[in-house]
Amino acid sequence: MTTKVEQAQVIRGLEGVYVSTTELSRVDGERGRLFYRGYAIEDLAEQGSFEETAYLLWHGHLPTATELERFSQQLAQSRRLPARLYCVLYDLPRETTPVTAMRTMVSALAAWEPNADATTPEAELYHARRLTATFTTMTAALHRIRQGEEPVLPRDDLSHAANFLYMFHGREPSAAAARAMDTFLVLYADHGFNASTFTARVTASTMSDMYSSVTAALGALKGPLHGGAMEAAMRQFLEIGAPDNVDAWFERALKEKRRIMGIGHRVYKTWDPRARILREQARILASESDEPQWFELAERLAERTLQHPYFQERRLYPNVDYYGGLVAYYLGFPPEYYTLLFAVSRIVGWTAHVMEQHADNRLIRPRALYTGAEELAYTPLQAR
Ligand code: ACO
Repeated sequence: MTTKVEQAQVIRGLEGVYVSTTELSRVDGERGRLFYRGYAIEDLAEQGSFEETAYLLWHGHLPTATELERFSQQLAQSRRLPARLYCVLYDLPRETTPVTAMRTMVSALAAWEPNADATTPEAELYHARRLTATFTTMTAALHRIRQGEEPVLPRDDLSHAANFLYMFHGREPSAAAARAMDTFLVLYADHGFNASTFTARVTASTMSDMYSSVTAALGALKGPLHGGAMEAAMRQFLEIGAPDNVDAWFERALKEKRRIMGIGHRVYKTWDPRARILREQARILASESDEPQWFELAERLAERTLQHPYFQERRLYPNVDYYGGLVAYYLGFPPEYYTLLFAVSRIVGWTAHVMEQHADNRLIRPRALYTGAEELAYTPLQAR
């Protein structure tokens, strides 16, 4: 007997399946373009700021000067942590990876946040600001504590990007560093229904709260198939060691059928537009650094892949993480924090998606085609 369910088509990994609509970001993989609410990321990265991008994604329109000033102040004033959360940070075992630690911290933050379960639009705008602002404070404090240093309290006279660098490193960043950080944060803010965003939306679709959605999203981001590529790309450059080693390393990688980290994308079949922008930021930071060789090395490796028929035939181009890792390195972040840097930005997208989901909610509840045994005779325990 063939039932209706047995005839169902299973689309593994939901590849190519549209499960919802969104007005937040549009990814055009063929043309290599990315838009947030209709605005090209090139314009937002060059002329806007992280604050403007967050406002756009959460409120649906670009802010006026007055709106932006008020919003930036609100975000800055949301940076302080309850004292008890520092105790949680100190109590976490040192071997806890930074992403696992922050997944725990977001969940812990909810416990100290009045009305954390509220899902009204006003409450969610507050929670989105609170999560985004404190995520930087907690990430920086985690790093400082692990370095055996005191956490640095946030300053509300600095931009989101500059304050994050200030809290992380304990000193005010240069103008170029603050600019590169800001650009980085604009570019990672949203990217369609990637795995962590989808996870956030599934959680939100049960009408659960925003802290739960972000905790779940961090769990999804943690996996090496999603958030780990930036770190892997930079570690690969460090492994190659010097620009002059690129050619031999590349030939060996080809022979061993090894994947080049930071190259290729499921959606972009041309340059990832974010990679182009971060490449320029990496170039600027490299020129000011006493380690310019990493940028030179990355350029040489990218050139080798772009010129090679294997990569051309498969339409494999540098993705955002190729140059994102370099920017993160030049900004002084240890590689084990790179996945968290992704989250420092993407938390804006996750929270925007929670709000979009709640604005017109339908429980996300797909089905699985059962392929196990059927109608077996039950043998009592003593007879087995
Ligand atoms: N180096 C060498 N070969 C590659 C690479 C790479 N980086 N990426 C894909 N290929 C090859 C595959 O071996 C395969 O070859 P085949 O047809 O001979 O079997 C072909 O290109 C297609 O590969 P798929 O894995 O089917 O492509 P898919 O679209 O599923 O993969 C992915 C995209 C996972 C990003 C892949 O390109 C990859 O592993 N890249 C390296 C890791 C990376 O940079 N990830 C970050 C992605 S961006 C982001 O997540 C923010």
